Amino acid sequence: MRTVYLNGEYVLEKDAKVSIFDRAFLFADAVYEVTTVLKGKLVDFDNHMKRLKRSMKELQFEPTLNEKNILKFHRELIKLNNLEEGVIYLQVSRGVAERDFAFPKETELTVSAFTQKKDLVENKSAQKGISVITIEDLRWKRCDIKTIQLLYPSMAKSEALRQGADDAWMTQNNYVMEGSSNNAWIIRGKTIYTRQTDNLILSGVTRAAILSVAEELGYKVIFKQFTTQEAESADEAFVTSATTFVTAVVKINNHRIKDGKPGVFTQELRKAYIKQALKTLK
Ligand code: PDD
Repeated sequence: MRTVYLNGEYVLEKDAKVSIFDRAFLFADAVYEVTTVLKGKLVDFDNHMKRLKRSMKELQFEPTLNEKNILKFHRELIKLNNLEEGVIYLQVSRGVAERDFAFPKETELTVSAFTQKKDLVENKSAQKGISVITIEDLRWKRCDIKTIQLLYPSMAKSEALRQGADDAWMTQNNYVMEGSSNNAWIIRGKTIYTRQTDNLILSGVTRAAILSVAEELGYKVIFKQFTTQEAESADEAFVTSATTFVTAVVKINNHRIKDGKPGVFTQELRKAYIKQALKTLK
């Protein structure tokens, strides 16, 4: 059984208890980060902390958290659970208060974290590529904040699985926004297209890393939204996230992407990304 972190303590997962009055439970009033662990160390930790702080600021969470302490308990969880490869899920809730729509004053944040073991480098989905469906994006208009309000992405992914696909790309006015829990990309020729970041999608930590990797490899990157049809007829397509790194998309709706195998550029980006990620270990 795992040992998890809750409000300063390390406890067995069965003993980690949170109040039913917690704002995360009542209002999804909480933010989170998922940080990759490779070789027992954290990938891109500083950028996850930067985004966490931003999410908290946007929701007026107080006080801010101590980054050194977060690093400490992340490392401790890795040690206690012998985690070589996988992720750490960190959640920060506004805390416990009587149910009221207005933000309560002076609550203590509820901070929890746990590990999940996963094969990320030698990953079957990445070797084969995944299939996606497109589905209307019915989320709210602050997807730049990494909140735990994930019911729609959860519905979208479940619908994808129901249709025999692996994941869903969410669209607005026929433009691809992002995946249910990843950023969406296509390649035409040697040009990579990724949607510009704004309030409608999450600015991925992996996405930022890929942009520098792509530049180093000499790709041209265009920050522009693309339509479902442009995606379906692309030379290559892929998703990025802390859990998928760079994973090829080989089918979009009923359209096979090229020969239905992970594209060469996508594979090159994946390899280069992993190499780069190993340089950020903390
Ligand atoms: N999801 N877009 C959405 C909607 C996401 O939920 C995620 C990450 C990303 C990619 O962000 P990053 O590269 O920082 O992981 C984009 C995480 C992995 C999750 O919810 O499990």
